[in-house]
Amino acid sequence: MQYAAQHTGTGQPMIAPSILSADFARLADEIDRVAGSDWLHVDVMDAHFVPNLTIGEPVVKSIRAATDIPLDCHLMISDPDRWAPGYATLGAHNVTFHVEAAGDPVQTARAIRAEGAKAGLALKPGTALEDYREVLTEFDTLLIMTVEPGFGGQAFIDAMIDKIAAARRAVDSGHLNLLVEVDGGVNAATIERAAAAGADCFVAGSAVYGADDPAQAVRALREQAAAAS
Ligand code: DX5
Ligand code: ZN
Repeated sequence: MQYAAQHTGTGQPMIAPSILSADFARLADEIDRVAGSDWLHVDVMDAHFVPNLTIGEPVVKSIRAATDIPLDCHLMISDPDRWAPGYATLGAHNVTFHVEAAGDPVQTARAIRAEGAKAGLALKPGTALEDYREVLTEFDTLLIMTVEPGFGGQAFIDAMIDKIAAARRAVDSGHLNLLVEVDGGVNAATIERAAAAGADCFVAGSAVYGADDPAQAVRALREQAAAAS
């Protein structure tokens, strides 16, 4: 919990609601419904790297102006080397891109950081952590996908628990200094396993926006994670 404690000042696990499960026609209101969240997770998809299409820079820019919650942009796009730094320029707090799509992840991380944002690297479920240990020394965030990227509402892949635990060990042993974030299928039934394995930050889309009171769902998930970690 070192990094999360530094980030939030509370030592609490971080919850990042994903607006992928929100009503896109009422986005500002939907963001208000998750007041008190640590990060707001914004899924950018290009119908190329993943078989789904969401939003891009103009909408992220408007979201940035509509909320004080730090934006956690998850870029599921081809050619992040070209596009990722732009999300940092427009004020995202954390910009995460996929290593599977990147040509030069270290250079892209440096470009994101040069614009004042944190840099994150995302790994699809089939991508091994071991292959990127050196690269990850240049990053602030590691996003471990616990579903295949592209859609909300999928089931948490339990086999990813080992990857979360390996990332935790790498941080605790001092090899890496980054926040361990998990994304996909995180809900009341799965968050404790992910927290016990050592995740710091939890993305939740359907579990938050599918609740009658999304802000309460965020608090409940945070409490569950805190109790399990
Ligand atoms: C999926 C996205 C996730 C998605 C998670 O590719 O990266 O952020 O919104 O949704 P849930 O929490 O419903 O699995
Ligand atoms: Zn995401």
